[in-house]
Amino acid sequence: MNLKGRDFLTLCDFTAEEIEYLIELSATLKKIKKSGQIWEPLKGKQIALIFEKTSTRTRCAFEVAAHDLGMHTTYLDPSGSQIGKKESIADTAKVLTTMFDGIEYRGFGQEIVQELADCADVPVWNGLTNEFHPTQLLADMLTIKEKLGSVKGKKIVYFGDARYNMGNSWMVAASKMGMHFTACAPDDKYFPEEELQEKCRAWARESGGSINMSKDLSAADGADVVYTDVWVSMGEPYEKWEARIRELMPYQVNASLMARAKESAIFMHCLPSFHDLNTGIAKELHERFGVTELEVTDEVFRSEQSVVFEEAENRMHTIKAVMAATLGEEPCIVQGTVI
Ligand code: CP
Ligand code: NVA
Repeated sequence: MNLKGRDFLTLCDFTAEEIEYLIELSATLKKIKKSGQIWEPLKGKQIALIFEKTSTRTRCAFEVAAHDLGMHTTYLDPSGSQIGKKESIADTAKVLTTMFDGIEYRGFGQEIVQELADCADVPVWNGLTNEFHPTQLLADMLTIKEKLGSVKGKKIVYFGDARYNMGNSWMVAASKMGMHFTACAPDDKYFPEEELQEKCRAWARESGGSINMSKDLSAADGADVVYTDVWVSMGEPYEKWEARIRELMPYQVNASLMARAKESAIFMHCLPSFHDLNTGIAKELHERFGVTELEVTDEVFRSEQSVVFEEAENRMHTIKAVMAATLGEEPCIVQGTVI
């Protein structure tokens, strides 16, 4: 498998075999890390991390993974670059190409990361846009493999706002990898766009998966994975909360919803999550609307079925795999030792 020089913008651009390869490579890199071995094939390389939106996991994952691989990182925070304000995406891409071996971008429209990739001569990695969050999906699939053995044939039910980066990305991943995906929400407006649904249905026909939209909580029946994400995403106005809380509260992941899923089912969430009152926004929403938990209850979040922190750890191993593969490196392991 040769992914050298490829961008990583959305899983739409990758075949099932390529995705499987990246998941397997992540598992190998995780083993190397856990065994305490050092593998620094990219010593001396430099990468740029552009974050036009905030982050905990993605930034840390890129930085730690890059350093583990021997690379140096330069972080450009939401206010720390000229990108899009004083300098075009195209010019920025050309400048960064002269100094860096790879560029990560987190921000707004997918067309921005696409333009960056079109104009840069080095791999560009999508660290989240409004439309897609592909590195999160690799981590999610690695976690499912670790917990449930495989991804193929698994039933994934996604509750809440399924039309944004996480819902879209999940539908794409499921359709490519032969999973059965259902988005469950109260209204068509919360489902991924028709055009993307159609694309995914075609991929699902090839992979043996399926794509469904449901307004009924019975969608959870027999699920292997129950997934949710925040109801208002980064970049959306605060005013959205009122209607979202009213409309999506019946789709909150709680113990009675989890009871409909398989006994072996796992609960997943990309994080951050509003499952208690220990954040500024949650406190504010509590004062205004009286809510104490939003997309998931604290009980489910902290339950045995919840794998959210393993999922978070896997962000690092999978992002490492994406960078290693697209920069043309693969570890060679002989009798348990990386050489
Ligand atoms: N899941 C995720 O992308 O988290 P951050 O926003 O903290 O990077
Ligand atoms: N949908 C969320 C995902 C965060 C990882 C957001 O865009 O804010």
